[in-house]
Formats: sequence, structure tokens, C-alpha cells
Amino acid sequence: MPREIITIQAGQCGNAIGSRFWQQLCQEHGISRDGNLEDFATEGGDRKDVFFYQSDDTRYIPRAILVDLEPRVINGIQSGPYKNIYNPENFFIGEHGMGAGNNWAAGYAAGERVQEEIFDMIDREADGSDSLEGFMLLHSIAGGTGSGLGSYLLERMNDRFPKKIIQTYSVFPDTATGDVVVNPYNSLLTMRRLTQNADCVVVLDNGALSSIASERLHVQEPSFQQTNQLVSTVMSASTTTLRYPGYMHNDLVGIIASLIPTPRCHFLMTAYTPFTGDNVDQAKTVRKTTVLDVMRRLLQPKNRMVSINPSKSSCYISILNIIQGEADPTDVHKSLLRIRERRMANFIPWGPASIQVALTKKSPYLQNTHRVSGLMLANHTSVATLFRRIVVQYEKMRKRNAYLEQYKKEAPFSEGLGEFDEAKEVVMGLVGEYEAAEKDDYLDPDAGDRKADGA
Ligand code: GTP
Repeated sequence: MPREIITIQAGQCGNAIGSRFWQQLCQEHGISRDGNLEDFATEGGDRKDVFFYQSDDTRYIPRAILVDLEPRVINGIQSGPYKNIYNPENFFIGEHGMGAGNNWAAGYAAGERVQEEIFDMIDREADGSDSLEGFMLLHSIAGGTGSGLGSYLLERMNDRFPKKIIQTYSVFPDTATGDVVVNPYNSLLTMRRLTQNADCVVVLDNGALSSIASERLHVQEPSFQQTNQLVSTVMSASTTTLRYPGYMHNDLVGIIASLIPTPRCHFLMTAYTPFTGDNVDQAKTVRKTTVLDVMRRLLQPKNRMVSINPSKSSCYISILNIIQGEADPTDVHKSLLRIRERRMANFIPWGPASIQVALTKKSPYLQNTHRVSGLMLANHTSVATLFRRIVVQYEKMRKRNAYLEQYKKEAPFSEGLGEFDEAKEVVMGLVGEYEAAEKDDYLDPDAGDRKADGA
């Protein structure tokens, strides 16, 4: 029985990474641009129905809903090479086509106004699946639509589908370029919903993506098109165990259960290796790859897709390495021993200090220049430094009351700015949770009380 996943892509970034993701899935499963199975796609063994369903004329259609408040990116998808793949009833473009002007409040208020139309689409897709497992939201947290409307959808989806898993792929802004001036406001407000209304957030950071593209792949001034290829590689690799199922990690709940031992610490970072011309146009090719090379490189900070500053006490809560290609369990076992001997990964003191490994198939329909590739999904306490940075940047702007007028115009802020204070409290609570997770008494129910008593 497939455990279906419905994807909701919101805003410019969400739709751009989403369309790249669907293109990648079609190529991996041998699905043509019109949704038909290619003649060469006879291998089987894959599970297309997690992400696609078949229409009456047997074409494959993504379980995807594309939402934006301005038409540009969706129009591009509707006139692009994969235009025929999507269900035409699953596009939502805001009536006035104005976008949310990089204002979370405008996106959130628009969400309230248009929710009925969007939930009609979501309900229709949910009713069309046999055993829906959950939802994937693709968005950026810095603009207005993906962040604000995305936040609104997260809250309502939580109420409407309390038993379904909500996973997000959330693109964090590059703080060095600060392309959206008010990104600290938008990011903080979205972070609250990611903390309270999502079960699992895969954190992707535009700063880290650009430096991987320029430093590791020697692509000067990478375009969004190129960074989105990195993102879609990560998205496709992180879903391979669902699409080419083995005996473990073959549904979302299995992946989440193995990576997220306590529900609040549900922000995952990723690393992928090797990136080559297969993944990003113009990238230089990589030399030989073995399982040990791949596992070692996955632990190197320069391959992480999040820019964080790990402290001495920061550590891994869990790691799942998804290894694709020619790898056998003996190689994996030897590599794990070597990594343990050399103490390459520091783990929390209160849980099993082990790297989990899933060996999966690669698509038989794509040419690869390397034997083995790997994706690391990791729960690491240093992700909290990213959240603290957002709070610090928010406080700087808020102290000067900068750019607040545009927020006050919208419903969530017309009564006051309490929404900001509550969001900050939630995010600081999350930072505190990650710090507590670094201590060995984290699971001790009396630890908090003892600290309060000054013990
Ligand atoms: P409005 O434009 O306000 O309606 O909201 P939106 O959600 O459409 O905004 P957008 O998605 O453009 O969010 C802005 C943030 O997303 C900025 O930090 C951009 O750098 C980032 N961004 C925009 N497009 C892309 C993309 O295609 N790829 C990546 N990786 N980041 C993007």
C-alpha cells in the first residue's frame, strides 16, 4: 500500500524548487514530459504512486498544489517543458496578482482570504489517495507568500489533518546578501509556525547553497537555477527510500522516528556528496568515490547546506545517511567502524551514538559519473545558532521600529505587535531546547525543577 504524500509549493522560491523537483522525479522514474511512461522504463521496483497518481488515460500526475499570489513563476511553469504534467485544477494564483510584497503579514492575511479555494484542492487530493501519509510544503521563509501564506496553511493543515505528517523544505535567506530587507521579521514569524505546526523541517540555507556552488563546484556567481538543482538533488535523495523502498525507512514516519527522538527538535540539516555535472550544470567532475569517502565527506562542515557555527558542546542528536549506488553492507560496516574509531562525529550523551545507514537504489534511467553518492540527514544541536541569528537580527530592526508600518496595515498586527513577541518567545524556547539537548540530564524529568531550585 503506498503511503501518499501531497506537495504544496508556495511563493516564488517554493514553486521554483518544486518545479525542479518534479522534473528530477520524472527523469528518475522514466516519466515523459507529458506524464507517459517512457518505452525504456521497464525496470519496475520503484514506487511512483507516493508522489504521482495515474489519470484515466494512465498518465502520471504529480500530487502537487502550486500556490502563488503573483503569476510570474507559475506562468513560467505553465508554459515550460513540463507544463502538461500538472493537474490544471491545482494551480492557485492570487486574484490581483500582486504578490505579498515580501511582507509576511500580507501573505498571512491573504491566506485567510483564499483558504477555501486552496483547501478545496488539498481536500480533493487527500480524498483521491488511498492511504495519505502527509504533506510536504516547499517555500522560503524570507519573502511574503511562502512565509506568510505558508504559515497560515501550516496552522490550518494542523487543525484539519491532525494525524498526518507535515514536513517542510524551508529555504532560509542568505544573511550576507540580505536580498529581502525585512527577512528577519518574516523569518521569525515563520519560524514560530515551523516550530509549532510542522513535524519535520528540512533546513536549506541560501548562503550555504551559494558557497557550495561557488567553492565546491567552481560555479561563479551561481544563479537560482543552479542552487535549485542542488535543492532538488537533496529533495530527490531524501525521498529515495520512499520511492525505492527497502525494509526500513520506507515511509515518512519511519524516517522521522529515526531522526527526531523528541518532537520539538525537528529541524534537520543536510549534506550531499559528490555534487557533479550530473547535479549542477557546469560543475567540475569528482574523482573516485567509495563508501568511506562519501561517509567521511558527509561529516565535513563544508558540505553542509546550512551555515552554522558549531560550539564545542554542540553535537549530533541523530544521523541518517542515505547511500545510493554500488555499496554493499560490508563496506558500510567497515566505514562506520572507521568513523567511530576516529571519533569523527560527536553525539548527544543521552541517546545511541550511531549513524544509521539506508542503502538504496539509484534510478536505472539516469547516467551517473560516480559509483556511490550519499545524502546525510542530520539532527544537530548547532542548528539553533541559525535561529538565534534570526532573533538577533530581528531585535536590531525592532529596536529602531524599522519597516513596521507595512505590517501594522494587516489583520494579524492591527491590534498590536504582540505576534512578534510571541514568535520570539517560541523561537527562543526552541533555542533553549537545543541547548538542553546537549546535556546528559535532558531526558531526566526532574532536571528542570532542580535547576529552578538552584541545585
Ligand atoms: P512575495 O514575493 O512577497 O509574494 O513572496 P514569495 O514567497 O514569492 O517570495 P520569495 O519566494 O521570492 O522569497 C524571497 C526569498 O526566497 C529570498 O531570500 C530569495 O533569496 C529566496 N528565493 C527566491 N527564489 C528562489 C529560488 O528560486 N531558489 C532559492 N534557493 N531561493 C529563492
